[in-house]
Amino acid sequence: CSFLKEKTRAEICEILCNGLARQEYRGYDSAGIGIDGDKKGEILYFKEVGKVAGLRKKIAESDMDTTKTFLTQCSIAHTRWATHGAPSTRNCHPLRSDPTSEFLLVHNGIVTNSAELRLVLQKRGYKFESETDTEAVAILTKYVFDSQPDKRLSFTELVRTVLKELQGSFAFVFKSSHFPNEIVTARRGSPLLIGVKTEKKLKVDFVDVEFAGQETEPIQTAASLAPTSPSSMLAPPSSGSKVFRTQSRAFMSEDGMPQPIEFFVASDASAVVEHTKRVLYLEDDDIAHIAEGELHIHRLRRKEDGQQTTSQMAATRSIETLEIEMAEIMKGKFDHFMQKEIYEQPDSVINTMRGRVNFDNHQITLGGLRAYLPIIRRGRRIIFCACGTSFHSALATRAIFEELTEIPVSVELASDFLDRKTPIFRDDVCVFVSQSGETADTILALRYCLERGALCLGVVNTVGSTISRETHCGVHINAGPEIGVASTKAYTSQYIALLMMALQLSEDRISLTERRNQIIDGLHDLPAQIKKVLEGDKYLQELATKVMATSRSLLIMGRGYQYATCLEGALKIKEISYMHSEGILAGELKHGPLALIDENMPVIIIMTRDSLYPKVQSAFAQITARRAQPIVLCDEDDDSISKDAKTIRVPATVDCLQGLLNVVPLQLLSYHLAVQNGFDVDFPRNLAKSVTTE
Ligand code: G6P
Repeated sequence: CSFLKEKTRAEICEILCNGLARQEYRGYDSAGIGIDGDKKGEILYFKEVGKVAGLRKKIAESDMDTTKTFLTQCSIAHTRWATHGAPSTRNCHPLRSDPTSEFLLVHNGIVTNSAELRLVLQKRGYKFESETDTEAVAILTKYVFDSQPDKRLSFTELVRTVLKELQGSFAFVFKSSHFPNEIVTARRGSPLLIGVKTEKKLKVDFVDVEFAGQETEPIQTAASLAPTSPSSMLAPPSSGSKVFRTQSRAFMSEDGMPQPIEFFVASDASAVVEHTKRVLYLEDDDIAHIAEGELHIHRLRRKEDGQQTTSQMAATRSIETLEIEMAEIMKGKFDHFMQKEIYEQPDSVINTMRGRVNFDNHQITLGGLRAYLPIIRRGRRIIFCACGTSFHSALATRAIFEELTEIPVSVELASDFLDRKTPIFRDDVCVFVSQSGETADTILALRYCLERGALCLGVVNTVGSTISRETHCGVHINAGPEIGVASTKAYTSQYIALLMMALQLSEDRISLTERRNQIIDGLHDLPAQIKKVLEGDKYLQELATKVMATSRSLLIMGRGYQYATCLEGALKIKEISYMHSEGILAGELKHGPLALIDENMPVIIIMTRDSLYPKVQSAFAQITARRAQPIVLCDEDDDSISKDAKTIRVPATVDCLQGLLNVVPLQLLSYHLAVQNGFDVDFPRNLAKSVTTE
């Protein structure tokens, strides 16, 4: 948004496209913009599937008058990473409420009750143009607007009413022909910030928060213009007090004069930083309104309604100065994408479960499978098919799948499955697990099974990918774009998606209620437990330096649920640190691997407590008898491990979930080994993120 700052359409498009291009590193499948047309209230849309370069081309080739100037304007743009509906120009944002664009918006996140909203709105005669969850929000806004007889609600109040109806996560930017040159933006669960650009220094560097239902009035006293101390900025206004907002909303310059001003709303500082380093971060349930060169921040609910954390209760949002450079912004505070993705896991696992796990009544709802549940339950066997890390996630959940569904499960490497021309029948259920949804071997295996009439399910991260399009049904893991070639957060999210599948398939088995409830309670605690494991990072970094930096090989040993963890840990180490590493099933120790053991061979043995603990203890005894000095990955309170042994301690959870915690230190270890050796962690030699050839 720019106020009193003349801009041509060409300049506006350039700013929008550059902002989108700055976020390309996050991965996306389509891009779009919405800018003011020539007639009052008219919006011009440009949308393109693929890269921002394609969108630029489309704009350049249009017959739009790019020389037209605006003294004041608000425009919006978006890169989409599909969650609801395949990547297509139809599903591309901005999405509008109707062909005249009474309301249009861009959205990051997932509105989990959009299907219900869509039904209600369709019954009332509203027409949908896309398959997105976002469009339901645009239409709902129009519905709320249409329903008020006197049309008195302000843009902010309108959005507030809409947001109260939404479940899920979002960062929105709303624009409307009813409120020209105004923008309303709001967040819950998805990041959102506002860059502020002025020519002269601002008089204040914060914005007051206006709590819903609270009286506000402008003041002009000398005291209110004095710099505010940090402590008073943090103190929430006492209930019923008046909020004074004049100084912060007007953005006067130090000489007390209003000045031209531009606001850049974005989900990521990378989109803003080339224009301004002065940035204000919104909190969950903040609603920001930009109009007439002013910025107001409102709260979704009344202060007395609760639900706000202490920080959200702060009475101001301060404008901070970004000190960091572009590359750093993209990776946040992390040195590499892989590190960032490892650290994202407490959030990415929540995103996988969001809207699907009801922790109160222990129900699981995977919308994409609902209609197919009876066929899956009748299937004669389930075959998981995948490559690399995705194969390991299938292996990790095989036992719990069999236990809960009582259907035999086999886990296949896609290439081998094809090599063997595995017999497949119409009553087989085949599950294709893939982060990218584009792995050639997995796609070929899928087509092979489709030809033979099997029911084919996809468990993928990338919506609109080949596997997600060609399977009959499936589950999106919603882990967010994964950039590091070595997969980390996709593994934990695939694991949870498969587990949720097993839980849903077994919902009609009364005898399993207790077991299911125990697992669902375990899922509830998981994000906090992953956070706790991540706190051990420093120690793991030292361990990588001390114990393993000079070794040429590393064995990771375990059994039962932890066999997959061993394989996945060893794969991570191979992939990025180029060190030989092998995952060993402890039950096979005596059939070969024991010959490798001596005092020079580093071994990690996974000994978290489950029903196989005594057997792993005996493997431990066998290797220590051969002078190995294993590093023991064990429960945080296991005091039966010898004091001399090096340990990696993790919180305990339900047996079938333990692998989700145990894999995290192994991801971190592999990361540190690679960094210490100076290797390119995100782009290891000879490997690709998505292997699209056989
Ligand atoms: C490549 C990647 C791995 C990934 C595997 C399967 O080898 O480097 O990280 O696990 O492909 O990819 P998919 O996208 O099918 O999960």
